[in-house]
Amino acid sequence: MTHSADHPSTPDQATGAGSDLDIRPPAMEDGAAMWRIARDSGTLDLNTSYAYLLMARDFAATSRLAVGDGQGVGFVLGYLRPTAPETLFIWQIAVDASQRGKKVAGRLLDDLLAELPEITTLETTITADNAASQRLFASFAERHGADEEVADLLEEHHFPDDGHGAELLHRITGLQRGR
Ligand SMILES: CC(C)(COP(=O)(O)OP(=O)(O)OC[C@H]1O[C@@H](n2cnc3c(N)ncnc32)[C@H](O)[C@@H]1OP(=O)(O)O)[C@@H](O)C(=O)NCCC(=O)NCCS
Repeated sequence: MTHSADHPSTPDQATGAGSDLDIRPPAMEDGAAMWRIARDSGTLDLNTSYAYLLMARDFAATSRLAVGDGQGVGFVLGYLRPTAPETLFIWQIAVDASQRGKKVAGRLLDDLLAELPEITTLETTITADNAASQRLFASFAERHGADEEVADLLEEHHFPDDGHGAELLHRITGLQRGR
């Protein structure tokens, strides 16, 4: 479900309860908040602010921003794979440290699934040491009756710069609605 600023959030699957956060597609201007959240995440690769502004503009339909008290506190940036448009690839997801553990990330993913009836598959990549992200996607798969497989994708030697751990492909198939 998508909520505009004029319409308060309603209960959703990940929380099972109401919430004071609004979940909505980003506008281009929200790229700035996404860049700040990514910068402060302590985990994500920080891309240029230009990249977040363009992604927010061009991939708004497959991305979401969580807003609390007028501030962006979490985001997910995704796109439909051009060669497999039933597959939503999650490029980055992050929640401000002050809001973690409150199912905000789960709500962001659930909102995308609810609004994108064409997707049956979700993919993302996660490093082996990111337990929070692994649990986030495993929980999402369980919640929607889907299967999750993990395979090698981006190995350390693929990265031209130093300091990248291998990114494993998490592929979630058979997503069910209304669960
Ligand atoms: C990963 C991240 C987005 C999760 O956001 P969040 O809003 O705190 O996650 P949620 O509250 O929706 O929790 C989702 C699930 O993960 C679990 N989880 C959350 N943080 C966890 C942690 N640190 N360790 C283990 N499990 C964790 C929750 O218990 C929940 O599981 P459940 O559904 O079985 O109860 C957040 O930790 C973050 O921004 N991390 C830094 C950026 C990052 O690593 N992004 C992912 C890159 S692939």
